[in-house]
Amino acid sequence: MAGKTAKLIIDGREIELPVLEGTIGPNVVDVRGLVKEGLFTYDPGFVSTAACDSKITYIDGKEGVLLHRGYPIDELAENASYLDVCYLLLYGNLPSAEKKKEFDNMIMHHTMVHEQMKSFLDGFRRDAHPMAVMVGLSGAFASFYHDSLDVTNERHREVAAHRLISKMPTLAAMVYKYSIGQPIVYPRNDLDYAGNFLHMMFSTPCEPYEVNPVFAKAMDRIFTLHADHEQNASTSTVRLAGSTGANPFACIAAGIAALWGPAHGGANEAVLSMLEEIGDESRIEEFISRAKDKNDPFRLMGFGHRVYKNYDPRAKVMKKTCDEVLAQLGMHDDPLLKIAQKLEKVALEDEYFIEKKLYPNVDFYSGIILRAMGIPVSMFTVIFAVGRTPGWIAHWKEMLDQNSRISRPRQLYTGPTKRPYDGL
Ligand code: CMC
Repeated sequence: MAGKTAKLIIDGREIELPVLEGTIGPNVVDVRGLVKEGLFTYDPGFVSTAACDSKITYIDGKEGVLLHRGYPIDELAENASYLDVCYLLLYGNLPSAEKKKEFDNMIMHHTMVHEQMKSFLDGFRRDAHPMAVMVGLSGAFASFYHDSLDVTNERHREVAAHRLISKMPTLAAMVYKYSIGQPIVYPRNDLDYAGNFLHMMFSTPCEPYEVNPVFAKAMDRIFTLHADHEQNASTSTVRLAGSTGANPFACIAAGIAALWGPAHGGANEAVLSMLEEIGDESRIEEFISRAKDKNDPFRLMGFGHRVYKNYDPRAKVMKKTCDEVLAQLGMHDDPLLKIAQKLEKVALEDEYFIEKKLYPNVDFYSGIILRAMGIPVSMFTVIFAVGRTPGWIAHWKEMLDQNSRISRPRQLYTGPTKRPYDGL
């Protein structure tokens, strides 16, 4: 039986287009044949365009569902470690006990970065934004790992994926230590992934440092909640760069650059700045009014999402983690948490936010947890980048495994038509 089709009628011409069905989610109209008809589709911002097919992550924005390889994010956050989720994203299934041991051990034994990376670091200003340094250093990786870089070789792709997951926390902690003028702390492979990251961030050669298990668990969960999110802007950037056959480390640098913007990963930093600017519960109404004012560019940071028109399922887990961490630290009366909770309540009851289906997203509560752990605001997006690395690299691998074509969007040209040279 022939599959579903859609009909497009243009200038009296009837064009039949195949309709492709996924396992769940909306069907897609296959418009690839339109170019032969002299037509393109128009969708700035990719609002209705599926740019690829993927088996990694599924989102139902209306219902607030997020599945990685079929597993709901809340179940993963509750039961799996971040490295289990990395394995799941890369290989399609959760690891067996034996595979878990092997994978964790392998990731935790490739954590060191080339010593010469320090020379790159020295070239940056100490007060540079850590994301600027991350873009530079992750790109510089491309110049260090020449072996295993034949992107047409499946094993080489796997090695690049492992290296990135192993080394990204080391890079992030180096950037932080450099910014505060402290010596860089080498990784400790006997710790778990999140614990090692905290060790590299906060220990110094002067005194022993013990990882707080509450912090390590919260950090692991923050990484897990950021691990992947389907075809978001930074992942699409990595895919686009990778579609040219570019070096994987350079593709990740491109992803980090895309993540930096306040509409994407930069929002977690912006949420904290906003909460600090609000400063007191009595000023919440004023900020809500500003967010609704069409003539004011201010937006409620940590609210709204291109895909979710319901509560972001990651925000639910993040909120719970936030409560747990602050309670365990005896900080449940934290003034910023109080402002955040009140702001959320007021916004969720406001007609503007209800009508536009604007709910808290993953970034709304993450900053409060990170701040409670002593992480400076400027490092928040870097932590998002560390967490998102397996997602980026899983999509990059999937795309190359599918022998995809180079990504090359088309356009609606609205500039001048051909005209003779009349300069000077
Ligand atoms: N505050 C006030 N109004 C908003 C907000 C907000 N946070 N978000 C959207 N709107 C309004 C917007 O003004 C527009 O109104 P109208 O239809 O009257 O012009 C309507 O809602 C739709 O917004 P949009 O900008 O067309 O939606 P989008 O899908 O292009 O943008 C977004 C999504 C996430 C960029 C946007 O909601 C936003 O800027 N939110 C704040 C930044 C933020 O928290 N970003 C983190 C996203 S989650 C982490 C990640 O995955 O990166």
